[in-house]
Amino acid sequence: MTTNHTAVITGAAAERGIGQATAQAYAKAGWSVVILDLDGDAAANVADGLGREFSISALGAQVDVSDEASVAEASAVIEAAVEDGRIPPVGALANIAGITSPVPFLDTTLEQWNRVMAVNATGTYLMTRALLPAMLELGYGRIVNMSSVSAQRGGGVFGKVPYSSAKAAVLGFTKALARELADSGVTVNAVAPGAVDTNIRVGSTDAQEQAIVDAIPLGRTATPEEVADVIVFLSSDAASYLQGTTIDINGGSHLH
Ligand SMILES: NC(=O)c1ccc[n+]([C@@H]2O[C@H](COP(=O)([O-])OP(=O)(O)OC[C@H]3O[C@@H](n4cnc5c(N)ncnc54)[C@H](O)[C@@H]3O)[C@@H](O)[C@H]2O)c1
Repeated sequence: MTTNHTAVITGAAAERGIGQATAQAYAKAGWSVVILDLDGDAAANVADGLGREFSISALGAQVDVSDEASVAEASAVIEAAVEDGRIPPVGALANIAGITSPVPFLDTTLEQWNRVMAVNATGTYLMTRALLPAMLELGYGRIVNMSSVSAQRGGGVFGKVPYSSAKAAVLGFTKALARELADSGVTVNAVAPGAVDTNIRVGSTDAQEQAIVDAIPLGRTATPEEVADVIVFLSSDAASYLQGTTIDINGGSHLH
């Protein structure tokens, strides 16, 4: 099933990011890919590189997942590319774009709260709402949402209250939509990574990074590829009976 479909990955342009690693893992598994990111030039470059390396169709475009008009524009670009045969129909959506915030609760402004909720939670909603109708028409789809261990244990890695709240919203969204879509052919699942070795924790000190590692039984942070492979698995035919589930990828740092 996979090689006849396109995977759309949001937040997929950052160097060392989970999104880019996920796009690469999809491409390696034979999927065509659409790379979406706030940074449209970087998205186009990543798409070019993957298209060449894996001989797949690949398209890059700019999007702000928190902005309804921007999401509509990006999905129109995707729809046009499917219609004129530049890419196969969209069979998977990985909602990976996200931002964090390490600000303590009473110092958090409403603007910071709104931005973290907008990118992580509303972005997941808007992208899913835009791409789901075509998946339902196709009778096949895999939606994988990015949560975090932060949602499950109340922070404790880097992001604080707004981040935990937004990532918990992603889990509720995943379960409720999975239930609603039931046996439509579209599955909706989530991943909840612990600390991953990316640039998202900008500004964290060596001491903070050491404290994060000390709390992980495996004794190290995850590589972006270790998260990417699980997302691609959730998008595969082998995951056909997983509906509304969350896969923890946290090195044993949170067990439940
Ligand atoms: N790194 C970790 O430790 C970790 C752990 C758990 C969950 N996560 C989640 O994984 C996802 C990816 O994180 P990462 O560590 O690769 O981060 P990253 O900062 O390396 O990459 C995030 C990407 O999202 C893009 N982006 C940000 N806002 C956007 C918007 N409004 N619209 C479109 N694109 C946008 C950025 O340009 C960037 O390319 C995030 O949702 C993050 O919360 C990360």
